[in-house]
Amino acid sequence: MINRIKELLQEVQEMKAANAEELEALRIKYLSKKGEISSLMNDFRNVAADQKREVGKFLNELKETTQNRINELKEGFANEQVSQDDIDLTRTAYPVELGTRHPLSIVRKEICDIFGRLGFSIAEGPEIEDDWHVFSALNFAEDHPARDMQDTFFIQHNPDVVLRTHTSSVQVRVMEKQQPPIRIICPGRVYRNEAISYRAHCFFHQVEALYIDKDVSFADLKQALLFFAKEMFGAETKIHLRPSYFPFTEPSAEMDISCNLCGGKGCPFCKYTGWVEILGCGMVHPNVLDNCGIDSNIYSGYALGMGIERITNLKYQVKDLRLFSENDIRFLKQFESAN
Ligand code: DAH
Repeated sequence: MINRIKELLQEVQEMKAANAEELEALRIKYLSKKGEISSLMNDFRNVAADQKREVGKFLNELKETTQNRINELKEGFANEQVSQDDIDLTRTAYPVELGTRHPLSIVRKEICDIFGRLGFSIAEGPEIEDDWHVFSALNFAEDHPARDMQDTFFIQHNPDVVLRTHTSSVQVRVMEKQQPPIRIICPGRVYRNEAISYRAHCFFHQVEALYIDKDVSFADLKQALLFFAKEMFGAETKIHLRPSYFPFTEPSAEMDISCNLCGGKGCPFCKYTGWVEILGCGMVHPNVLDNCGIDSNIYSGYALGMGIERITNLKYQVKDLRLFSENDIRFLKQFESAN
């Protein structure tokens, strides 16, 4: 009998249960009325008197050990139960990091909103374009040196399939489809074959604006530009138009704004001129209107184009263009509050 008890002792010490049901089965096996220990107790009556003491001691030890082991296992399950109850399913699994808009998206939206308040609506066009929409319709002659102003990416060595070098191509697409009045703003990505550095990239973003109607004059352009500059950079901003050249506008101009860092007094940012250049503009060339099926004897209009990176740099003093496409969270996080 002692051997049987020792065997059971060993068994009980090693017993394991995977769940509460298994544990209950073990309890029944050892501790219930018809269990192993009870039956040993019954057999105990037949043990010789001189052995009773020793066998009794082992038997008690077995009973106690079994009870303790079962309690121990039970406690383990109870703890698990508590920790399961502890799970709050309404809580998020981990802290949610709020995303931010990209600075270029913030500025693009702001530009579009400002022109939206002047009645411009958004138009978009393809990034993979043909020669006509990027150059020819816009009055770039076949061998016009102005084509060299833009280092163009050609697709598959086909001179007629290009990545658009400016969003002016969208003007053409809209004018071909729609008669005046036209008042559109065209934001989008453009591509130029430039070596990547802190101040140039092979892709960047532009916004183009076009207004065509009867009797549109340079004065209308100037007023729209002034409104835009003040809305974008503050009411105290001044503008300055310099004569320039673009094949698709005549006359053409470039616009400077009073340096928003020094207020026009002169600083390293504006190279002590007090002015910084922000966009190109002009009256749409009659050839462009005619190319697009709009009668230049009846209609006139203005166009302007600006780089979103340039405006963003001025607003937020980002010194390296590459930051806009590197997706460094530390950089992007800084624009959280500008959302
Ligand atoms: N397309 C010109 C560029 O990429 C920008 C531009 C200048 C657009 C004058 C215009 C404009 O609409 O009138 O440099």
